[in-house]
Amino acid sequence: KTPKITVVGSINMDLLTTISRIPNNGETNFGEAFTMKPGGKGANQAVAATRLGGDVSFIGKVGNDAIGKELLELLKKENIQTSTVGVSESRATGVANILLNDHDNRIMVVSGANEEVTVEFVESFKDTLRQSDVVLSQLEVPKETVEWCASFCKDHGIPFILNPAPAIDLPQEAWADCTYITPNEEEAEKLFLENNYKDQLITTLGPRGASYNDKIIPSVFVEVVDTTGAGDTFNGALAFYLGAEYSVEKAIAYANVAASFTVESVGAQVGMPSADQVESRRTF
Ligand code: RIB
Ligand code: NA
Repeated sequence: KTPKITVVGSINMDLLTTISRIPNNGETNFGEAFTMKPGGKGANQAVAATRLGGDVSFIGKVGNDAIGKELLELLKKENIQTSTVGVSESRATGVANILLNDHDNRIMVVSGANEEVTVEFVESFKDTLRQSDVVLSQLEVPKETVEWCASFCKDHGIPFILNPAPAIDLPQEAWADCTYITPNEEEAEKLFLENNYKDQLITTLGPRGASYNDKIIPSVFVEVVDTTGAGDTFNGALAFYLGAEYSVEKAIAYANVAASFTVESVGAQVGMPSADQVESRRTF
């Protein structure tokens, strides 16, 4: 069956600048390339899940501006349900300024309309949430919203995955309400998650794969061009494969392979694979 995934999260336009040396304060420097690509952790994760074949709804907000219209169109083109996307009248569409340097990235997000993804807004889509096989969220929308989602999903027996990115602390009850928590190593350390929530914790390890329950589930080796969106692909894929009723370990193994495609191209969503592509690359 086709898994129904609902993503509650952010949507941004990514302004990507490739630069060989990041300027110091007060210094001007020439970059090599500039491109605009759709992004936002929420939208990225939604795209990852839909490319694999999920039936995906996105709950989020754009601004009433040209960028917002463009991003909304792109979600529709990906076959994502967008009747749950609101348009803010007072805030601009979120943007992320991304500096690509030496295969590494630095991201500065201006949230704008994403800040209006309030509890009240998400509550108006309870039906969508209730009908989901998996609900997925991150921390680029107000944390009260994420806390509410975790608790709502817990009460309704819906698996809820929280990708705690960026690392923002939540009350203990909120972490406890999550089915899975998926930080990278830095986020896990910053949020003191390592020694708690053992059964819920899936930590992504970049090229080394991911760890779950003291076990490392390895990834596949690829040539890295831009890691932006790799974590998002992992999360969207994890939601998809869990929704398709794969065991956790198997879902993690597949999600690792899915993420390997994303690091091969510039931009978060560009390289996100289909399920067939993942199948063709897996080595387990
Ligand atoms: O995880 C990558 C994403 O983080 C980018 O697409 C950017 O928009 C920021 O939200
Ligand atoms: Na990428």
